[in-house]
Amino acid sequence: MGEAPETGHSPPLDWPGRLWLDGRTPVQVGDFTGQAEAGRGPMSKAEIPVFHNPAMTGSRTRSVLLLDQCLREDWLTKPGAKIRVLDGLAASAIRSRRWLSEIPTESAERLRVTAIDADATALAWARANHQSHPPGLSDEVDAEFPMHERGLRILQGDLRARVLEAGWQWVDLDPFGPPTPFLDTVLQGLARVAVVDVTATDTAALCGAAADSARRRYGTMAVVDDLRHDTAMRVLLGHVASVAARHDRAIEPLMAIFDDHHVRVSIIARKSKQEASSFAENIGWRIHNPSSDEVAIGVARGLHPAGESDEPQLSVLIPWDTAPGNSFTGRISGPLWTGPLGKPEVYAEMTAERAVELCALDDKRDGDLVKRLEIPDSTIRDSQRLAAKAVRGLAEVAEVIDLPCTYPVDMVASLYSDITGPPSPTTLAEKLREKGWRAAKDFIAVPAVRTNAPWDVVIATVREIAPTK
Ligand SMILES: C[S@@+](CC[C@H](N)C(=O)[O-])C[C@H]1O[C@@H](n2cnc3c(N)ncnc32)[C@H](O)[C@@H]1O
Repeated sequence: MGEAPETGHSPPLDWPGRLWLDGRTPVQVGDFTGQAEAGRGPMSKAEIPVFHNPAMTGSRTRSVLLLDQCLREDWLTKPGAKIRVLDGLAASAIRSRRWLSEIPTESAERLRVTAIDADATALAWARANHQSHPPGLSDEVDAEFPMHERGLRILQGDLRARVLEAGWQWVDLDPFGPPTPFLDTVLQGLARVAVVDVTATDTAALCGAAADSARRRYGTMAVVDDLRHDTAMRVLLGHVASVAARHDRAIEPLMAIFDDHHVRVSIIARKSKQEASSFAENIGWRIHNPSSDEVAIGVARGLHPAGESDEPQLSVLIPWDTAPGNSFTGRISGPLWTGPLGKPEVYAEMTAERAVELCALDDKRDGDLVKRLEIPDSTIRDSQRLAAKAVRGLAEVAEVIDLPCTYPVDMVASLYSDITGPPSPTTLAEKLREKGWRAAKDFIAVPAVRTNAPWDVVIATVREIAPTK
């Protein structure tokens, strides 16, 4: 299978290490702390031979669900056609192996997955894992996809050199830290229509807390308040959109998420000079504590709900061409993406039922695996719990994901002296819906409500349900 890793030992020196289940895919990992414990990451990447982070299991689960939906709905190809997928920074190739093992066989047979990593030891583990725990796919040879074994080809090298070798239809970019060193070349190595999944773990830069890194990597600044998670997703989307535009590609966000220590955005990129030229229509600024004139700009450009109130508001998104002047100092985040964070149809499919069906162990379907690896019932239950946790709150937000405004309830409550505590976001969303507005408890990391209700309606409703003097 694949080109032999140039320096990788086969099998790897410490093989088989310890057995771990990521989703419902077995993976042998090095025998080190943090490699086979749910929710814990490795102590330090320097101490382990292959980077494996169990805390990213949820991210991989969502990636299985997204690729499955893409195949079922034929976003990128004609029905039934093969799809060229690149796991760009693959490490142990657990993400590739999960796609091939957990997506239903009929769709998974269409995958032509290439896993690339610079690290030969990581690839030796990837190869040994794929051979020891192969996906249940046919082993037929595909002349158009040489050197693969059951849908997976493993290549060693620098992603930035290898990504230009093919027109990829799906690229996963999962770096240590920022994705910025890779984005420019990755966006040149795509097919005309392609999905790109980008992870960034430099959340302090994206949120604006690490101001120097934000300026250097993304050309942005940001105010660090309870809107920082929404801001971080928008900063990353804005950056991806602007790099894509340089290569005549327009992006459409499928899904964005801020999950604990990382931000991940999934986009479709389409080659179109015309659409790419208008990318700035979705780029703008967030003004914190805006004046009524600033709110009026957002309202006029469809980025903020119109209302009757002149009372202070939390923030407003405004377009790029209403560029900030000096008076904005300390009150501005951006440039950032002001368009939708994702597609309702994608969030709606991120249900616990689907995550458990595809990504958790089932005694009947996976009976042979459970028996062969002597997997205890508690591990089966854990896999079901973790699969459901990976998508918690996402389907609920589908109906409102296109809306620009989210209201962190602690910030709302702090603006008014008569409101002595934050309202429950679930109750606030319910009350707003009863009044005919679109509203849902948001999925950002602080309690918040995403809604199209105007500010006066939000505040009146908060006063009805929150503790007041
Ligand atoms: C965060 S890990 C990837 C984790 C993996 N995607 C997963 O889900 O387990 C980042 C990987 O990128 C690899 N890497 C770093 N720079 C690279 C480069 N320029 N080209 C290819 N691989 C690189 C590292 O060896 C490391 O294995």
